[in-house]
Amino acid sequence: MEFDTVIHSGTIVTADGQFSGDIGISQGRIAAVAEKLSGGETRIDAGGRLVLPGGIEAHAHIAQESSAGVMTADDYLSGSISAAFGGNSSFIPFAAQQRGQSIDDVIATYDARGARSVLDYSYHLIVSDPTEEVLHDQLPRAFARGITSFKVFMTYDLMNLGDGGMLDILEVARHHGAITMVHAENNDMVKWMNRRLADKGLSAPKYHAISRPQLAEEEAINRAIQLAKLVDAPLFIVHVSTAGGAEIVRREKFNGAKLFAETCPQYLALTRDDLDRAGMEGAKYICSPPLRGADTQDALWKHVAMGTFESVSSDHAPYRADDTGKFLNGRDVAYPAIANGMPGIAARLPYLFSEGVVKGRITPEQFVALSSTNAAKTFGCSTKGRIAPGMDADIAIWNPQVTRTVVQADQHDNMDYTPFEGMELTGVPEVVMNRGATIVSHGTLMAQEGQGRFFARAAVDLRGKAGFTAPEFDPAQNFGTQLR
Ligand code: URP
Ligand code: ZN
Ligand code: ZN
Ligand code: ZN
Repeated sequence: MEFDTVIHSGTIVTADGQFSGDIGISQGRIAAVAEKLSGGETRIDAGGRLVLPGGIEAHAHIAQESSAGVMTADDYLSGSISAAFGGNSSFIPFAAQQRGQSIDDVIATYDARGARSVLDYSYHLIVSDPTEEVLHDQLPRAFARGITSFKVFMTYDLMNLGDGGMLDILEVARHHGAITMVHAENNDMVKWMNRRLADKGLSAPKYHAISRPQLAEEEAINRAIQLAKLVDAPLFIVHVSTAGGAEIVRREKFNGAKLFAETCPQYLALTRDDLDRAGMEGAKYICSPPLRGADTQDALWKHVAMGTFESVSSDHAPYRADDTGKFLNGRDVAYPAIANGMPGIAARLPYLFSEGVVKGRITPEQFVALSSTNAAKTFGCSTKGRIAPGMDADIAIWNPQVTRTVVQADQHDNMDYTPFEGMELTGVPEVVMNRGATIVSHGTLMAQEGQGRFFARAAVDLRGKAGFTAPEFDPAQNFGTQLR
């Protein structure tokens, strides 16, 4: 067989195991995996380094206006470049519906934005206005285009759908084979806390963490799961930030809910003390759900190691610490007027590798599952996330021995800070490929603007998930009424 490229002498790591061998690439796809492969117009010597499926970043806000109208600093060019330097071969940012906007219009808008990407990309569709037309006409059309995940919010006044709106979307998603993602925080608890803090004149960034109690997340995670169970729809809980939330996820999975979840590096690496930095520095650490305490970090790491989470995602939400981003409403404002979110698309995998694999908390196989393989299964990326013949040649070669200090310039994004500044991380993605093309090589960008392609996705892989029938939906228990 003739190969365009052969990656040889590497330690190939998959979610199931590792072996030394070679990978033959032909026309952007993995054509062969074997102990020794000859040929190849280009031969890349992996020299004993780790050869992994390229990362799939499944939670990033790119060229997206927040519900309050603040545009992220990264567009699909800078965002995809930053992702690539961080070991990712593809990503799935959000395409966000503004209230009153048609889904077709949302997709057309993001197609124009996505055209700049250096990496393959897809979108999760944020639904903020589930009208009859959206539910029964526009969402099925989006699904048919390969946009197979919908995201809803239980918080933020302009996004929150209420339980009935969530049930409507969950039901449509289930019917068409899509998965619903949810940002779970109890909106009324947060608003009530905001009023109480405002009454006492407490407005500094550190009160952001107080205003969004752990209970608000735990209550909403539990409620979202019960809503999904009523209609037996798959559910993905994004950015779990509490031990209590993780425990609920674990218990409900054990009981057969079609449930998936992620946490993010910021909840493992940072604490709410970072919100109390001098002056308005704390604003850089405002994200929702908020950073918690050191005890939460330990608990979340245990859940990462135990397999409670499918993925560790960045929730890259890049708002610069200037008057285009965090301080669009001014510098001396109360915390609710500061944009929520922090960057991290380049730091996600180096952080997870260093603090996870190098420190012995997770195995290299778990790293592959958490960074790529599980996201591919959950979000229907059927040609990505695995090293096997027929798959896209989306590959990252990691040097596990090099230690670097995180500095803003190395993030290659359009930001003016990184919350991970100064951390010493061991393990570097030296070569990153997307469909056989080298995107990043030893710190140099090799890709051209626009070479990434939109990829259509399939339904979530529900094998191994038992499912749940609410008694009221069971004709044997409800006077024979057929509700489904
Ligand atoms: O604070 C965050 N995470 N901002 C981004 C939007 C969201 O809630 O995911
Ligand atoms: Zn329908
Ligand atoms: Zn969110
Ligand atoms: Zn987010």
